[in-house]
Amino acid sequence: MEKVLHQPRLDENAVRLAYKAWAPVYDYSFGVVAGPGRRLAVKKLNEFNGHVLEVGVGTGLSLPRYRHGLQVTGIDLSPDMLAKASGRVTRLGLKHIKLSVMDAGKLAFDNECFDAAAVMYVMTVVPNPAAVMAELRRVLRPGGSAIVINHFSREQGLRAAAERGLARFSHNLGWHPIFPISTVTRCHGFRLVERIDVPPFGLFTLLRLEKVS
Ligand SMILES: C[S@@+](CC[C@H](N)C(=O)[O-])C[C@H]1O[C@@H](n2cnc3c(N)ncnc32)[C@H](O)[C@@H]1O
Repeated sequence: MEKVLHQPRLDENAVRLAYKAWAPVYDYSFGVVAGPGRRLAVKKLNEFNGHVLEVGVGTGLSLPRYRHGLQVTGIDLSPDMLAKASGRVTRLGLKHIKLSVMDAGKLAFDNECFDAAAVMYVMTVVPNPAAVMAELRRVLRPGGSAIVINHFSREQGLRAAAERGLARFSHNLGWHPIFPISTVTRCHGFRLVERIDVPPFGLFTLLRLEKVS
């Protein structure tokens, strides 16, 4: 059985504040650690056609890797992170990419307008992961894919103990160390089609889910 432990809830303001502080150093810190998973996710997304949504696009480290034949929309709650992404889009002339400040739990898009979506290292940060999965389901076309990469917590062992220790610092970290994989894999309206542990040390997991009707 999954243990439920106390960890302070991150509301939207806490996320904005945390990522205001992260924005100047993100690309040289967590941005590097998350590189292998991000590269793998974009490689998979480049196999799709049409319109891809990247939720929690952050400073836009993924953006130069999307092939130009795709239409890509990136959203993020943090204006500071998104300002970095916007600078990158302009600097690199990435005309196939659009960016907006938006809450992943309340997407301002029509139903079934995306062919695929990516949520990379975001699910442990958002205040309400179930609302994000429900929104993804709404905006994806039937059969569309959602690629989620995240750190998912363990129930036993050293890693589980470390995660429990970190949980009380959620507010300062800007993410929730305790986050069971079932929060994503058991979401209504999705079928899990792929699961890959990614470096460093299998710390993160890539999940590909397909929208079922
Ligand atoms: C750890 S960063 C990941 C950034 C990027 N996906 C990457 O691979 O580097 C988490 C991002 O999620 C964003 N975020 C957190 N809550 C959000 C929400 N409710 N809606 C949209 N973005 C959110 C944060 O502002 C931050 O940019």
